[in-house]
Amino acid sequence: MLKTAVIGVGVMGQNHTRIYSEISNLVGVYDTNLQASKQIAKTFNVQSFPEIDNLLSSDIDAISIATPSSTHHEISMKALQAGKNILVEKPFCSTAKEGEQIIKTAEKLDLTVGVGFIERHNPIIQYTKENIQKDDFGNIISMNARRVSSFPPRIKDIGVITDLATHDIDIMRFLSNSTVESVYVRGGGFHNSVFEDHAIIILNLENGITGYIEVNWLTPMKVRRLALTCSRSYVEIDYIDQSMTISSSKIMNMNIQDLYNTSMEKLIRHVQLKKQEPLRMELINFLDSIEHNRRPEVTGEDGLETLKITLAALQSLKTKEPVKLCNV
Ligand SMILES: NC(=O)c1ccc[n+]([C@@H]2O[C@H](COP(=O)([O-])OP(=O)(O)OC[C@H]3O[C@@H](n4cnc5c(N)ncnc54)[C@H](O)[C@@H]3O)[C@@H](O)[C@H]2O)c1
Repeated sequence: MLKTAVIGVGVMGQNHTRIYSEISNLVGVYDTNLQASKQIAKTFNVQSFPEIDNLLSSDIDAISIATPSSTHHEISMKALQAGKNILVEKPFCSTAKEGEQIIKTAEKLDLTVGVGFIERHNPIIQYTKENIQKDDFGNIISMNARRVSSFPPRIKDIGVITDLATHDIDIMRFLSNSTVESVYVRGGGFHNSVFEDHAIIILNLENGITGYIEVNWLTPMKVRRLALTCSRSYVEIDYIDQSMTISSSKIMNMNIQDLYNTSMEKLIRHVQLKKQEPLRMELINFLDSIEHNRRPEVTGEDGLETLKITLAALQSLKTKEPVKLCNV
């Protein structure tokens, strides 16, 4: 079993810690909040490292970095230079230059970089991708994502686009098998003057598909949904339930003067998958990719491409103009 560790044991890091304790040889944790580090280490009966350098000089194969995103670059570089494979929580880092440096360093040192886009490991997304590849829905015409919930006070270094919409940007790239040509955003800060807390994002993908993303930290209800308008079906996905509804309809007896009573044949199929924890699948995939010398499901390059689109979205939010990715 690979030897693992977690840097940053806040909300997300504690989940990485729990799962590593079940699927790998978890060696220890480190957090600048030493009290938190000691407490989590005690719970899982592993070491709490007093300094990051103590952790990095230990015999550890793979590390999850679950600290605030503004620290991802510095910690990733240190971990790679110490010879560790890394899984960096999303968002990958803060600038494209930082992302390029992490990828180049990992390549040079023959180490694995994975990025924590957890929704890629949601079974419903894997199921959707398989159906698209089998041409079960017809061509995708547009994708419409809604990711809204109330404000998480612990996030202090980024806005809702970088924190939440980044998931949908990654999923839209993945499902459409394309990349974004330009992005247009409207939104702002309803409660927050420093970072945006709501946004509507329009992505123009290279292959002609349009993506529409609504994100906010204002809705007193957690919604994580995606709808795909395809040439043969309308597909609605619920990330939380890990379920999908596939619909199509045909007008039977059209009466122009009585549209209300026009009959319609509807074909509606509901798919409920057996629920699986996406983070567990993500960490299994990461460790498996190290053991078998394969690329992880979400690579550093994916993290970088999604980061570039996110940065373009932030630029568009500021200028209120569409931003072409080639100009970022
Ligand atoms: N994939 C997902 O669905 C998902 C969900 C939530 C958070 N995240 C990501 O996980 C990361 C952490 O988010 P969180 O919600 O757990 O935040 P959090 O504030 O709960 O935890 C962050 C932890 O990192 C520690 N920390 C800060 N700077 C550090 C440093 N330099 N070295 C070591 N420890 C340090 C803090 O003390 C804290 O315990 C972020 O990148 C966030 O975007 C991902």
